[in-house]
Amino acid sequence: MRVLGIETSCDETAAAVYDGKAGLLAHELYSQVALHATYGGVVPELASRDHLRKLLPLLEKTVEEGGGRAAIDGIAYTSGPGLVGALLVGAAVARSLAYAWDLPCIGVHHMEGHLLAPLLEPEPPQFPFVALLVSGGHTLLARVEGVGRYELLGTSLDDAAGEAFDKTAKLLGLGYPGGPQLAALAEQGRPDVFRFPRPLTERPGLDFSFSGLKTAVVVALRNRGELDPQARADAARGFEEAVVDTLVIKCQRAIDATGASTLVVAGGVGANRRLRARMLAMGERQGVRVVYPRAEFCTDNAAMIALLGQLRLAAGERDDFSIRARARWPMTDLVPPSPAA
Ligand code: KG4
Ligand code: ZN
Repeated sequence: MRVLGIETSCDETAAAVYDGKAGLLAHELYSQVALHATYGGVVPELASRDHLRKLLPLLEKTVEEGGGRAAIDGIAYTSGPGLVGALLVGAAVARSLAYAWDLPCIGVHHMEGHLLAPLLEPEPPQFPFVALLVSGGHTLLARVEGVGRYELLGTSLDDAAGEAFDKTAKLLGLGYPGGPQLAALAEQGRPDVFRFPRPLTERPGLDFSFSGLKTAVVVALRNRGELDPQARADAARGFEEAVVDTLVIKCQRAIDATGASTLVVAGGVGANRRLRARMLAMGERQGVRVVYPRAEFCTDNAAMIALLGQLRLAAGERDDFSIRARARWPMTDLVPPSPAA
């Protein structure tokens, strides 16, 4: 089965074609970063309008590259969680195309897409595995037994890891998007100048808390006045070390608790180079296979949406004709694919 996937949950307009046999055939992405940069963050209304402008030309190109309209057997779109106006653009276009082309259609969960994105890689992980999902909106650890079969092991009690990166980047005077800029600045920083806490690692459990870390950075910088460039880089490095250490410690605990032999790291923060290197080193020590999607499939993309849609549609799952856009949608509500009644 060949599925067209559409992603418009935030500030990337993306489309992809995934085939159950041939794999990923096409994926295109238009980033709105430049549009929102002036405002220091995503402006929802501008995001929706830009999706409207960019989605149809992007779809034409992607469908062409994916073998043409006649070869498409189904359509999947991101139904949530995300910005509701932005989601509505993708949902309305997907449903209308499915109606016009008389194809089955399904609205899928953005974070489930991130979770399964490593299945796009040439040597995909085998179920069951433990997954660390680290994005701008979520930080969670789950045991994954199959599509829709997720046991939540731990979650962030406050800010997500990506959110902490973005807020700390702002504190350091960096622009939007903060995470990648902070990571770039940290490359010039020294690891031992600032020592920030590793939250919730001193007691048992798999939950996370990152809001205190941001406060620790504020406190450390409070009396220093204007920071020179080296001090800013040192602070960025100290912060990154603290987040990476915390995530590695929790993943190691999750592996110990479940006896898993594979760890998947997905979501935007999974693009962080230091995190990737440290997780791989931990995996080597523990005899655990660590799998990442390639960096472009860690951050938002439609390849993961087309793949997830293909898995669910091929299993017989179908939506009715309603257009579904869900700003909030807990992952715990997800169930395995079930054929339409
Ligand atoms: O998964 P994603 O693209 O969107 C959401 O679904 O949230 O994740 C975006 C988050 C942002 O907070 C961004 O700052 C962070 O991922 N991020 C990074 C890096 N690249 C993206 N954080 C740290 N280091 C990076 N290299
Ligand atoms: Zn995302």
